[in-house]
Amino acid sequence: MNNTKQLQASISKFSATSLLSIDQLDRDSLDTLYALADDIIINPGRYTSAAKDKIMAAVFYEPSTRTSSSFIAAIQRLGGGVIPITGVEFSSVTKGETLEDTVTMLSGYSDLLVLRHPEPGTAQRAKKASRVPIINAGDGVGEHPTQALLDGYTISKKLGKVDNITVTMVGDLKHGRTVHSLARLLTNYDNVSVNYVSPEILKMPKTLIEELDKKGLKQSEHSDIDAVIGDTDVLYITRVQKERFTDLNEYESLKNSYVVTPDLMQSAKDKMIVMHPLPRLGEISTDVDDDPRAVYFDQAKYGMYVRMALIASILGKG
Ligand code: NCD
Repeated sequence: MNNTKQLQASISKFSATSLLSIDQLDRDSLDTLYALADDIIINPGRYTSAAKDKIMAAVFYEPSTRTSSSFIAAIQRLGGGVIPITGVEFSSVTKGETLEDTVTMLSGYSDLLVLRHPEPGTAQRAKKASRVPIINAGDGVGEHPTQALLDGYTISKKLGKVDNITVTMVGDLKHGRTVHSLARLLTNYDNVSVNYVSPEILKMPKTLIEELDKKGLKQSEHSDIDAVIGDTDVLYITRVQKERFTDLNEYESLKNSYVVTPDLMQSAKDKMIVMHPLPRLGEISTDVDDDPRAVYFDQAKYGMYVRMALIASILGKG
């Protein structure tokens, strides 16, 4: 897997490319990127100068803990520097500066710009304004491609494969950008079945289901986890996205719709894994944390290595 040719292929494939949607990546790109992440984990010393003299602007218009800090750790572990704008309330955005002006200006200071924003499609707008590659770190209810990358990586590390599996996505499938991107990523693999479990009003968008159907993804919708838990290889549970609700009473009535408990885990396969993009609120009982099938903290950690692989590839230095 980790031969130099393949690692070079990964690096040249992404060189100077923006990552706006997970749809940009095919199976080959995923395999090469994951091979690079594997090598970074095994040989971290080889990569300490991969982003030397490079600066990444991290511009977050929405709250973030994992995504922002893992991107910052990633560029620093590659020897690069960071402009951290992870609280836009302290920037000129509060003075009314447009996204375009902020991005154009910051792209003059940096070699790569990582952007999170509450409106879908903002990464595309930013790309037009930017002089350097943009990485979409979440655009509202749209996409979160780097989360999908780390989710796919976690599945391949923990199950040894992403082909021939059943993934059950649970929770707020309407607003959750992580499930939107993960479902798209799974179309690159063979014979994947996806179960969507959600309250009626938080179902996966119909247009997305139709789009994925055309790509051959096997999908089915359910309201109950019990109906599908026994066949599940990956249980991917998500938070109900409070910030997307206008009626907070509605949020309150839905927030505890599904909870992973030790009891539920008894009905699951011995080799099933439980994933969550985090933050979790009440969706996974802390009693499940010690179950070897609970992989969400490893998943978060893999995020840093996958982002290192992506940054090294985009900046084009092995
Ligand atoms: C997710 C996000 O921001 O979409 N968090 C993350 O990046 N790990 C999920 C969430 O906030 O629920």
